[in-house]
Amino acid sequence: MQRMRIGPEERVFVLTGAGVSAESGLRTFRDQGGLWEGHRVEEVATPEAWTEDAARVWRFYSQRRRDARRAEPNAAHRALAELEQRLDDRFFLCTQNVDDLHERAGSRRLVHMHGELFASRCEFSGPGAGTSACASAPFPDDALYETEEVIAHCTCGGRIRPHIVWFGEMPLEMERIEREIARATTMLVVGTSGAVYPAASFVHWAGPRARRIYIGPEEPANAAAFTEIVPGRAGEVLPGLVEGA
Ligand code: APR
Repeated sequence: MQRMRIGPEERVFVLTGAGVSAESGLRTFRDQGGLWEGHRVEEVATPEAWTEDAARVWRFYSQRRRDARRAEPNAAHRALAELEQRLDDRFFLCTQNVDDLHERAGSRRLVHMHGELFASRCEFSGPGAGTSACASAPFPDDALYETEEVIAHCTCGGRIRPHIVWFGEMPLEMERIEREIARATTMLVVGTSGAVYPAASFVHWAGPRARRIYIGPEEPANAAAFTEIVPGRAGEVLPGLVEGA
C-alpha cells in the first residue's frame, strides 16, 4: 500500500477485533477451536447460557480475566495510541475486544462496543433489561467467580454478571459510533473476521469517498467493501503505517 497520509482536515475511525490482541498472546475466537469445557463459545456467551449455568459462564470469563491480566499491549496497540496522540479529536477507536490492552497502551478516545472484561454489572441492569430493571451502573471488577456460591449479588438481589455484550444483545454506544463513522475520511479496520454484525457493516456505513483499509493476515468475509487490503500481522504492519501517516 502507498502511505496512509492523513491530511489536516481528515478524520480516522478505527475498528479493531481479536486479531489486534493476538500478538499479545490472547487467542482469537476462531483460534479457540470454538470450545470451552466441551461447549461452543457461543454457548457460554449468550443470555441463555447465563440462565442455564451462570457459574459456567463466569468460569469462562474468569479464565479470560486471568489471561488478559498476564497479557501486555503489543506494537499494534501502541501504534494506534500514537496515532491518537497525533490526531487528537480527529481520531476515534471502536474495539470489539473486551480486553483492556488499548487503554493500557494509552488509547483514550475509544469505545468497547462488546463490553469490558474488567467490569461487571447487575443481571437486571443494562440496555436489554425490562421495565422492572435495576438502575445500578457497571463497575470495575477483576474478581474471579468459579462457583455459583461465590457469584456476588446486587443490592436489588440480582446476580452480578460480566459487563459483556453476549450474542443476541445490543452492542454499546452505537449512536456515537455511527456519528464518528459518518464524519470519518479514513476507516481503518484491523484483525476482525468481518463475520459478526453490526461491526461487519461499519465499512458499508462509511461515506462514499472514505478510504477503507483492512489490515490482517487473512481476508475478512467483507473484503469486497474495502478500498485497500494490507496483508500481514497488525503488530508488524501498523507501526510503519502510522509512522508514514
Ligand atoms: N494481526 C491482525 N489480524 C490477525 C492477527 C494478527 N496478528 N492474527 C489473527 N488475525 C485475524 C484473523 O485473520 C481473523 O480475521 O483476526 C481475526 C479474528 O477473527 P475472530 O476470531 O472472528 O474475531 P473478531 O472478528 O474480533 O470477532 C468478533 O465475535 O465472538 C464475537 O463478540 C465477539 O468481539 C467478538 C466478535
